[in-house]
Amino acid sequence: MEKKEIKIEEPKGKLGVLLPGLGAVSTTFIAGVAAVRKGISKPIGSVTQMGTIRLGKRTDNRVPKIKDFIPLTDLDNLVFGSWDIFEDNCYQAAKNAGVLDRYLLEQIKPELEAVKPWKAIFDQKYVKKLEGKHVKSAPTKWELAEQVREDMQNFKRENDLQRMAMVWCGSTEVYLEPDNPIYRDLASFEKAMKENHPGIAPSMLYAYAAIAEGVPYANGAPNLSVDFPAMLEFAISKGVPICGKDFKTGQTLMKTILAPGLKARYLGLNGWFSTNILGNRDGEVLDDPESFKSKEVSKLGVLEHILQPDVYPDLYGDMYHKVRIDYYPPRGDNKEGWDSIDIFGWLGYPMQIKINFLCRDSILAAPIVLDLILFLDLAGRTGMKGIQEWLSFYFKSPMFAQGLYPEHDLFIQLMKLKNTLRHLKGEELITHLGLEYYD
Ligand SMILES: NC(=O)c1ccc[n+]([C@@H]2O[C@H](COP(=O)([O-])OP(=O)(O)OC[C@H]3O[C@@H](n4cnc5c(N)ncnc54)[C@H](O)[C@@H]3O)[C@@H](O)[C@H]2O)c1
Repeated sequence: MEKKEIKIEEPKGKLGVLLPGLGAVSTTFIAGVAAVRKGISKPIGSVTQMGTIRLGKRTDNRVPKIKDFIPLTDLDNLVFGSWDIFEDNCYQAAKNAGVLDRYLLEQIKPELEAVKPWKAIFDQKYVKKLEGKHVKSAPTKWELAEQVREDMQNFKRENDLQRMAMVWCGSTEVYLEPDNPIYRDLASFEKAMKENHPGIAPSMLYAYAAIAEGVPYANGAPNLSVDFPAMLEFAISKGVPICGKDFKTGQTLMKTILAPGLKARYLGLNGWFSTNILGNRDGEVLDDPESFKSKEVSKLGVLEHILQPDVYPDLYGDMYHKVRIDYYPPRGDNKEGWDSIDIFGWLGYPMQIKINFLCRDSILAAPIVLDLILFLDLAGRTGMKGIQEWLSFYFKSPMFAQGLYPEHDLFIQLMKLKNTLRHLKGEELITHLGLEYYD
């Protein structure tokens, strides 16, 4: 079959990595890249760095690394920029976050100290538990977004960057109802920015600024940020790829690994009780009921979409799903999650599964940030725009096109991601059809 390769611009020069929020996830990500560049550590958990992709028939024996198959920006060409409400540079912020050990941080201290956050767009109405002084001021939200655009332009010029990509790593903002008329189209949204409408949260202003500058944007938190029609309209008109929401780490990652397995064997589910304790700043922010609501909505959708109770009422019609998060300072970034799962099998006989995941949140999130930056940059160089559903793999609550539904099954998500890469390079898509003996 003739190959139909899509034109992908080469990743020449430097790529600016823009991170609103210089907390546990961002600093762990930046420190990790610095450590990998120096050969101190390996990029474990990153699909772009460790992943392989099978091409052609199994007998062809073609399984290159993803980074050798598709043109991705080299780690040496990443330059970091960030905004935060605290003035601490990346080294100090990483020390405060307490995720990585001092010994590692000392070895990459100069690289980390070089990342100094710009003043943030911040309003305590949207993150009740935080108070910061390193913030911008302007008469309108529109002008605040303009200031972020200026930061981006200066950063690009000063560092001689060819391209940029942004991932929101700021705190989870309070829940905002998505059906507000100001989100319906770009004209209404821009008018609302100029009128300081309370429906416009800081994360939306960063997203707006990114799209206005033609910069791809991903949202690592569960707040709306870019997930509404006005932003989609803007992204499409500017030819910018966007995706979100909420990095899929920890407990939800486990859920999207296990639930498809139960469904594949048609095992029923009566209930799934998930509880977490965590003691980092993210945990403190989520201790506020309004920020927790954003997280809860994002976490709850997962089982419903994977298990399809409407299609399988006998198996999943009565399932009870509960998610709790409790702030517990002694644990710091090392979260503990418990899942108590009540399933049933043949003739309805009940069984139980217990999961106790002692995970490290930011260690799981950092490679996601790296992959999103590199894949969004690839999407930008390929001319892909709007929602990037092939990146659903990375999110708890993937954004999806109107009229569709989100894909939560981790294994379908991975197949979608790899098939998208095969498609871009004009390779045959892999369907796993078992027809070898009929050739
Ligand atoms: N760690 C994970 O596994 C994980 C998983 C899913 C989602 N997330 C989300 O990722 C985000 C980052 O997580 P984290 O653990 O690094 O949290 P964190 O609290 O350590 O860091 C967030 C940083 O954002 C800053 N910030 C808040 N509002 C800001 C604004 N308007 N502009 C600029 N900076 C702002 C805070 O000062 C803080 O330094 C959170 O929203 C979290 O819910 C994290």
